[in-house]
Amino acid sequence: MTQTQWTAVDDYITDLLVPPDPALEAVLQSTIDADLPKINVAPNQGKFLHILAQIQGARRILELGTLAGYSTIWLARSLPADGKLITLEANAKHAEVAQENIDRAGLTSVVEIRVGEALKTLPKLATEGQAPFDLVFIDADKANIPQYFQWALKLTQPGSVIIVDNVVRNGVVIDANSTDENIQGVRQFNTLLAAEPRVKATTIQTVGSKGYDGLAIARVISD
Ligand code: SAH
Ligand code: DHB
Ligand code: MG
Repeated sequence: MTQTQWTAVDDYITDLLVPPDPALEAVLQSTIDADLPKINVAPNQGKFLHILAQIQGARRILELGTLAGYSTIWLARSLPADGKLITLEANAKHAEVAQENIDRAGLTSVVEIRVGEALKTLPKLATEGQAPFDLVFIDADKANIPQYFQWALKLTQPGSVIIVDNVVRNGVVIDANSTDENIQGVRQFNTLLAAEPRVKATTIQTVGSKGYDGLAIARVISD
């Protein structure tokens, strides 16, 4: 099995199940125009997140890692009209492009971008006394996933769901001796996850247009 085949199958699935959408296509075009990294979730993954948030009945979503707002828009569109999505982004240029995309998608009043390193903006969410989030999507830098997961636990409640992107990384996750800080971040997160009594969790490997990777999903089961 090769990347070419995974991409062809993703294209087949997306052609069938994910109709073209002007606002989402504009996000992908803006990513090219502004020369941002093309590391947004794939269209079928975006729709998966959207459906998951609806199954969850999410009214409040927290996202770490906005980029141009592609996953943000998929997730925000799952919310009721009075719902809220807060998305954290360290890079001011990414945030600026994302804001334009969110405005174009008609989600200005639903989505709030907080610019800054997530390890700075997360404590602020806690001190502000934000109501618990029903779903957290962790998709920023990988070295800090362990800390992000701990913040996610603080900012959620029993019944909430925490999703972590990019936890398989071409299978390299099983290399205990990897010198890549991203891999070590994922591995430390997995250790935390395994030992965390407050969640019920699993991880699914994925292949597709974005390569071979995986998603962790944790349901908060107790305070
Ligand atoms: N969720 C997006 C993709 C996010 S890519 C999508 O699927 O469409 C990862 C993003 O995290 C990048 O925009 C990067 O600038 C941002 N990022 C990296 N380190 C960060 C940090 N410490 N705090 C907040 N955001 C960070
Ligand atoms: C990459 C992919 C991602 O989904 C992400 O959030 C960060 C990096 C990558 O392929 O490098
Ligand atoms: Mg990702």
